Amino acid sequence: MHSDIASAGTARPATPSAPTWDPQQYLRHAGHRTRPFLDLLTRIPELPTAAPRIADLGCGPGNVTALLADRWPRARITGYDLSREMLHRATEEYAGPTAGGGSLDFRRADLGGWLPEEPYDLIVSNAALQWVPSHPGSFAPWINGLRPGGTFAFQIPANFTAPSHALLAGLCEAPRWRSRLAGHGARYVHILEPAEYLARFTELGCAADIWETTYHQLLSGPDPVLDWVKGTALRPVLTALGDDRGAVDEFLGEYRDLLREAYPQGPRGTVFPFRRVFAVARREV
Ligand SMILES: C[S@@+](CC[C@H](N)C(=O)[O-])C[C@H]1O[C@@H](n2cnc3c(N)ncnc32)[C@H](O)[C@@H]1O
Repeated sequence: MHSDIASAGTARPATPSAPTWDPQQYLRHAGHRTRPFLDLLTRIPELPTAAPRIADLGCGPGNVTALLADRWPRARITGYDLSREMLHRATEEYAGPTAGGGSLDFRRADLGGWLPEEPYDLIVSNAALQWVPSHPGSFAPWINGLRPGGTFAFQIPANFTAPSHALLAGLCEAPRWRSRLAGHGARYVHILEPAEYLARFTELGCAADIWETTYHQLLSGPDPVLDWVKGTALRPVLTALGDDRGAVDEFLGEYRDLLREAYPQGPRGTVFPFRRVFAVARREV
């Protein structure tokens, strides 16, 4: 356990060799990445208290966390994340009192072991739980950590069989890369199907609202799918190759050529379909 990780009753160890993150690269596609969170927000019901306590699990650079303060101006909101780079960016940009009398702060925590340390009105997570293989096992303690009538809501990418991810996984297993990258391309594929999430939450006695959407995203610029995954799915690969610039450039060149074939540039941009699953589970009053 890292000594500076918020423990909050944690018993399990931190995720091994977590990838390094690059907030600037991640935020290059902030518009498309924020849209699902806005869609999730519209389905979150009224919270039990007027000045709610909110946790954002896997808060990243904090731009999405800050949107929670727009919807609940009096809320006391904490964003939790494992990445020091992301937390630094979030704290610099957003930490402090909010205009409506609430507050935003950011703490280091491994979601693999995070438990609510006080009653929450809302626990929310956007595009982060796919990195936490154990997340379905945490549903019961997270729901128990809600006030009656409180909500747990998340959005999770569900496009791991799409060419962007299948080609990455395949390249990592190719003879040229296997010894250094085996398993890295598909390392964080740990999500359930919508029907399974529905079953989990109804078994826990929640009112559950589960759905999926495929966003047909039109990206601009050269090699935009490569640019997109450099902020997310490629993080484990880039972390594993580290400072070996030659290997990074070679790998990115091979992957870029595969992506160009799979996602050809059209006259108005490059279409990058992206499936996502959403869950809103309300604890009984
Ligand atoms: C794709 S980003 C999403 C960031 C933000 N929620 C958003 O919607 O923009 C995923 C985030 O999950 C964090 N993360 C991944 N594994 C984690 C873990 N085990 N514990 C805490 N945070 C983790 C990463 O550091 C990263 O900031």
